Amino acid sequence: MTDRVTGLACVICGATYPAAEAGYVCPHHGNEGILDVRYDYELVASCINRASLATNLDTTMWRYRPLLPVADDAAVPPLTVGGTPLYDAPRLAAELGIARIWVKDEGRQPTASLKDRASAMAIVKAREAGAEVVTTASTGNAAAALAGLSASVGQANVIFVPESAPEAKVAQLLAYGSTVVLVAGSYGDAFELCLEASAEYGWYNRNTGFNPYMTEGKKTVVLEILEQLAWEVPDALFVSVGDGSIIGGLHKGVKDALALGWIERAPRIFGVQAAGSDYLVQAFERGEDVLTKPPINAETVADSIRADLPRDRVKAMAAVKETGGSYLRVSDDDILAAIPMLARGSGVFAEPAGAAPYAGLVSAVDRGLVGPADRVVVLVTGSGLKDVASVMSAVAAAGTEPLRVAPDLASLRAALQKGSP
Ligand SMILES: Cc1ncc(COP(=O)(O)O)c(C=O)c1O
Ligand SMILES: [Zn+2]
Repeated sequence: MTDRVTGLACVICGATYPAAEAGYVCPHHGNEGILDVRYDYELVASCINRASLATNLDTTMWRYRPLLPVADDAAVPPLTVGGTPLYDAPRLAAELGIARIWVKDEGRQPTASLKDRASAMAIVKAREAGAEVVTTASTGNAAAALAGLSASVGQANVIFVPESAPEAKVAQLLAYGSTVVLVAGSYGDAFELCLEASAEYGWYNRNTGFNPYMTEGKKTVVLEILEQLAWEVPDALFVSVGDGSIIGGLHKGVKDALALGWIERAPRIFGVQAAGSDYLVQAFERGEDVLTKPPINAETVADSIRADLPRDRVKAMAAVKETGGSYLRVSDDDILAAIPMLARGSGVFAEPAGAAPYAGLVSAVDRGLVGPADRVVVLVTGSGLKDVASVMSAVAAAGTEPLRVAPDLASLRAALQKGSP
């Protein structure tokens, strides 16, 4: 740890615990009492600023180390996490009639999703805690990320995923050599079992919306975006939301950058959920308290954002409300349609949860929530290769088929005459 961290504060009661004494959650509020890492920004500012970043040759997430809850000399995993591209997408912007669209491609991470940022942090914290085994429950990507980052340092790990997780994500876990537990139940069931198992066996727990340090890893994506835009704040950020931990991380990075004077205003943060997994949209629209609102029965093609009860819902709601953004719901059909739209308009290939923010942006433009002068960042959180079955149904729905030909030119000529190349 570092003395730049002043403590960990409960998101419900605000009670602050010294980092050395804090558990995963606030003892007064059980699993709802998620903790937020607090910093001495003056001390942080003495170690890092916009000018020092400009000359820092480290392009990974660890370039922000003085703003992360890790010691200066802590060893970090060798896989290259962070430094993903932010692409200008002028054809998409022209199609939607807005000023700019940038696409942040987190599919380029080592295990092909943004979750590598949190899992890299988990490995550092597990080693600091002297843990022999790390564990997580996940819809699939956090699992693959922890598996890959663990493999990079030879860290033993046990992973809980719902048995419905897409094959590619399970394949990653098995290839990385994790102990894989396929749970006959939902992600929520896998989460509860993982909590019980980690308490029983003393494993280090990386669970999203439980381990306070995961948000800190995820926030590096927004610091990177701001830096890539030369600190010119975009008007809006679009991100998909399941447990709400990524969106909470975006908000945290923005608040850090404001506190350090790196930016002067916050972008509006828009959280996009699938219509069948819209807990936070419901709460936002109806003004419901997320601490008392009961779980819903979630179902969506976008498996990564299927959540009955978003674990990080307090931070997730604050991210949207405090920045003047909105929660938006999009249908599964719109999510699938967004995969080829994004791929064709920008070259970025997204899994359903990675394309959902673009579907949300289309709807926000329709509803006038985003206007012609707006400059918008769409966060693609995971690669299309994670869920090829969904991509195949997306391209079929878009009416795209291969030309089928015999291996001769005449047959090709005939096929080309029928369908344009
Ligand atoms: C690709 C992808 N997008 C979005 C999300 C949603 O993140 P969160 O659960 O933190 O809201 C996840 C989480 O698994 C994910 O893997
Ligand atoms: Zn509390």
